[in-house]
Amino acid sequence: ENKPNVNENSKNKQLEQFREDSKDQFMTTDQGVRVNHTADHLKAGPRGPLLMEDFHFREKMTHFDHESIPERVVHARGSGAHGYFQAYDDSLKEFTKAKFLTEPGTRTPVFVRFSTVVGSRGSADTVRDVRGFATKFYTEEGNYDLVGNNMPPFFIQDANKFADLVHAIKPDPDNEMPQASAAHDTFWDFASLMPESMHMIMWVLSDRAIPRSFRMMDGFGVHTFRLINEAGKACFVKFHWRSLLGSHSLVWDEAQKLAGKDADWLRRDLWEAIEMGDYPEFELSVQIVPEEDEFKFDFDLLDATKIIPEELVPLRPVGKMILNRNPDNFFAETEQVAFHPGNLVPGIDVTNDPLLQGRLFSYIDTQLNRFNSANFGEVPINRPITTTHNHQGAGFMRHTINKGKVNYWPNSLGGGCPMMAPGNMGGYIHHMERVEGHKIRGRSESFNDHYSQATLFWNSITEPERKHIVKAAHFELGKVMSKEIRQRMLGHFNKISPELAQRVSEGIGVEIPKNFEPEKSDNNYVADDASKKIK
Ligand code: HEM
Repeated sequence: ENKPNVNENSKNKQLEQFREDSKDQFMTTDQGVRVNHTADHLKAGPRGPLLMEDFHFREKMTHFDHESIPERVVHARGSGAHGYFQAYDDSLKEFTKAKFLTEPGTRTPVFVRFSTVVGSRGSADTVRDVRGFATKFYTEEGNYDLVGNNMPPFFIQDANKFADLVHAIKPDPDNEMPQASAAHDTFWDFASLMPESMHMIMWVLSDRAIPRSFRMMDGFGVHTFRLINEAGKACFVKFHWRSLLGSHSLVWDEAQKLAGKDADWLRRDLWEAIEMGDYPEFELSVQIVPEEDEFKFDFDLLDATKIIPEELVPLRPVGKMILNRNPDNFFAETEQVAFHPGNLVPGIDVTNDPLLQGRLFSYIDTQLNRFNSANFGEVPINRPITTTHNHQGAGFMRHTINKGKVNYWPNSLGGGCPMMAPGNMGGYIHHMERVEGHKIRGRSESFNDHYSQATLFWNSITEPERKHIVKAAHFELGKVMSKEIRQRMLGHFNKISPELAQRVSEGIGVEIPKNFEPEKSDNNYVADDASKKIK
């Protein structure tokens, strides 16, 4: 019987067996041999050289030498917390068979990691950046990861541009100097040539990019996903986390000063709040779109640079997450946790969003590099609370000791092999979406409107918020050496709002360009045109 008894403590209990309590214990080597002196290594005489036979020194030194793993290629700096999620009621049953979303009696353990995107592990917390908001739900049907951000759109529509985006925003390749220190040319060069990024650019220039606290920011799944109910019927869904403390930001001056005075501002705030019992709470909501309504909007649901305005599809509250325990060990938990948007449980599925499709490849690929092993799922923080059975084995740092000679399927030698034939177990079934088409490297024409939602954003905010955006643009673009890049950005701003362009132009020493045409090279292979031609 694989069914675990799920409650909010299930993960904690599982982690218990991996925790070490070294109080009142003798110091030992990794082999369990007691150490009697650790302040000096073994020498040939009091002033002599180190002896190779000093197994204690060599083990201690070797372990230290190997104590770092590659930092995440993005989202390198983060802070984690344990907690639980509980659904309010069973009203989502109509749409999904995912039990953790529909059984109000179940408290599903979670581990959340909040992060900045661009900076290295040791960078400051309060920089202008997107924040990651990744949640691992240890459900009784396996791990589900909602790997989101604190802003609902994204910069690009297709995963093939992600490497370019990140190269443009990370420190320069020649001198490894981060953008913030001097020139901001590369990121704004890329953005100014990427009209599809304009909606996200508005969010990044806004106060959302300098949150006051990880406890006071919202989270978004960004992509459109699918929910699947017991009968196999699908609907589209967007996920939202709402901070129950409300969404609060710093002002830029505070953010800059804090980056120097307390680079751990957000990390410290989260840690201390949890230590004091002031537990952060977030409400999960969904926006549901019936499959029949897929083409009802004037944007494409598969386009991750768009939101679904709440006036069109209201938020529907599902449940609440409470973060109530700090990690015991930063490296073992916060650093080694491995999220993946493809970690799905029955009742939740992906869509063909071309950004999401690329992410489904990227996370495992990068984690193979980060952990140097396919066995990172066996690290305590990554283990599901369900038991796992399969024929995977071997590889660096394999923990599980598989018994017997049968490590293949099908087999007739397994005897009492606990693994039933797949298909008999009511496991995960991918939604049977019908797919057909010509192979094509491009996007649908329905992805082509890059400005309407940027304008919607500008129109929806208050004057103080507008002022902050204008000042942020002055700061950012004011550090761009290239006049053409500044001008191109003004051309985009003018398409979003002439008022915005005018106010930005007053602070960056260039005029709004006349007859501005956004870069087309990005879209020079439009899928729909191409497929029409093929027909
Ligand atoms: C982390 C790739 C878009 C949210 C990462 C990592 C990679 C990556 C390689 C490092 C993972 C690790 O080392 O464990 C990509 C690609 C994207 C993309 C290729 C687009 C094609 C997004 C989007 C979101 C997002 C749209 C938000 C919805 C995150 C978060 C993390 C992360 C929150 C940090 C997870 C953690 O705390 O460990 N991404 N990403 N990414 N990504 Fe993405």
